[in-house]
Amino acid sequence: MLDSKLHEYDAVIVGAGGAGLMAALYASTGGARVAVVSKLYPTRSHTGAALGGIGAALGNLEEDDPLWHAYDTVKGGDYLTDQNAAQVLAENAVDAVVELEHMGLPFDRTSAGRISQRRFGGHTRNFGESPVRRACHSADRTGHMILQTLYQQCIKQEVAFFDEFYVVDLVMNGETVGGCVALELGSGDWHIFHAKATLFATGGWGRVWSFTSNAHSLTGDGAALPLRRGLPLQDMEFYQFHPTGLYGLGVLLTEGIRGEGGVLLNGQGERFMERYAPTIKDLASRDVVSRAIYLELRDGKGVRGRDYVHLDVRPSTVNRHLAEAGEERRIDEAYIIQNLAETLDTCRTYVGVDPLKEPMPVRPTAHYAMGGIPTNLCAEVTRDAAHTVVPGFFAAGEVACVSCHGANRLGTNSLVDLIVFGRLGGKRIAEVCAGSDLPPIAKDAAAEAQAAFAQLRASQGNSRPGELRQRLQETMMQNVGVFRTAETMQQALDELAELRDRYEKDLHIDDRGQRFNSDVMEAWELGCLLDLAEATARSALARRESRGAHSREDFPERDDQNWLVHSLISRDGDQLTLRHDKAVDFSLWEEEKARGIAEDEQHFKPRPRVY
Ligand code: FUM
Repeated sequence: MLDSKLHEYDAVIVGAGGAGLMAALYASTGGARVAVVSKLYPTRSHTGAALGGIGAALGNLEEDDPLWHAYDTVKGGDYLTDQNAAQVLAENAVDAVVELEHMGLPFDRTSAGRISQRRFGGHTRNFGESPVRRACHSADRTGHMILQTLYQQCIKQEVAFFDEFYVVDLVMNGETVGGCVALELGSGDWHIFHAKATLFATGGWGRVWSFTSNAHSLTGDGAALPLRRGLPLQDMEFYQFHPTGLYGLGVLLTEGIRGEGGVLLNGQGERFMERYAPTIKDLASRDVVSRAIYLELRDGKGVRGRDYVHLDVRPSTVNRHLAEAGEERRIDEAYIIQNLAETLDTCRTYVGVDPLKEPMPVRPTAHYAMGGIPTNLCAEVTRDAAHTVVPGFFAAGEVACVSCHGANRLGTNSLVDLIVFGRLGGKRIAEVCAGSDLPPIAKDAAAEAQAAFAQLRASQGNSRPGELRQRLQETMMQNVGVFRTAETMQQALDELAELRDRYEKDLHIDDRGQRFNSDVMEAWELGCLLDLAEATARSALARRESRGAHSREDFPERDDQNWLVHSLISRDGDQLTLRHDKAVDFSLWEEEKARGIAEDEQHFKPRPRVY
């Protein structure tokens, strides 16, 4: 056993994005001694890539109501959304955004000095009647501003930060989590973080797919670790493709572009969303728009025969469509420069396209995991359909599945999720820590991880991690992407089995050193990608219906009779096993109204609930 440095805290937060920082802030203001451990420098966390806005029914520009926000969230999630979670999300969003403003977040302003709001896909007034301005924004850098604001608050609160530390194992004592094991990138040293509460806020796993908006670091480590320790992951089949990834790169072009009036055009210059979603058009939910783009491309209607369409935000185009829609609003170049500065910069820098003069080339890009580590409404991790809490373990943000997004997340709701459930998790952690002692943990808590890394470091086979990763990403993109069938998913599973075999028996590592060994870290991350790709493909193969982001060409209909239920996948030895016994929460609207007749808006009226 190698030496490990032992750190004792009340709470250890893994991940320094919006959820992690909010949880750290609330746990520490509640009296807990808190450490944040992150494989990145905190302000480089992926929250910074959430661009267009954070949804909250402030009603600053148009009448709005948190109940309408909750309704859109349930409907956008294709009714798999837990309604109590949607309600908590929507109601807490209002106060959370005002709190961010008071912390100093520089939101854009209306002429009356209030927080400015823009439209986003699927957000409507009065239960689907018409689009509403709900996304509070700071140009198209909203996530970035949230990160900066919360990081400053955490520094002020004297939260301890451990940057560029990779968390590679959970410390468990029976069923209780007592901290985590981390490897320090710069030195190769081992660390054990012993804590009363451990919260994972490690983000998603977009790097499972070859074309993604996600940064290289998003390899799903935080979801793979509990899976390896026998805990379940929920609703893994639901992975969102954002409609507008910049062609060639996958980098996100915000939905806020369409919120400001930008339109999608196929190779024939046709505004094709009018055919797929006649009322809400380009602002339909992401699953609908991504499928529409795929169908256009399949139909040979890409631009110049290539596999992309155009996103046009030139003022002349936008103003023509605003006039056609009977809207009075008009925009000019100065407006675009002020509100979509990041978009202009990204397109000019990376593809040499100036969005003020020409349309942007886009196609759907792997973006967001709706599934993840199951939690209750206080971010406590649960292990089964009965919501049994795993003592000492919490999760928030994209890695978690409180199921406020159901089968498909609405744009802006990721930032809301981070802030709302990060805050609730932090509050709960403070309570838990106040009334408990550090749980006992084994002296050799790092031994298993150390042995796994020693084996990895010694790998002398013929398969380079980069080659295996590329094949994994390509098969997932092709076979478990926007559209899937049993045949394609089985093909992916067969390829994944072959890749895992090579990973375990034939891997090659060049760098055997201790310091800044990114070779070995990337190989370890590849193991996480393999675990999550398999969990995704198996969960998707089992669900024999289409719902939200899970679109099966062999089962094209939503099947509420059999599949209005969550999935839980867990590892049992070498096998992944699936259960479908976790009920969806219908406490806001009656279950029978959501089943089957949910398409008929007349029958899907709210029943106010006090909780
Ligand atoms: O389009 C966007 O600005 C992305 C936001 C989100 O994923 O919520």
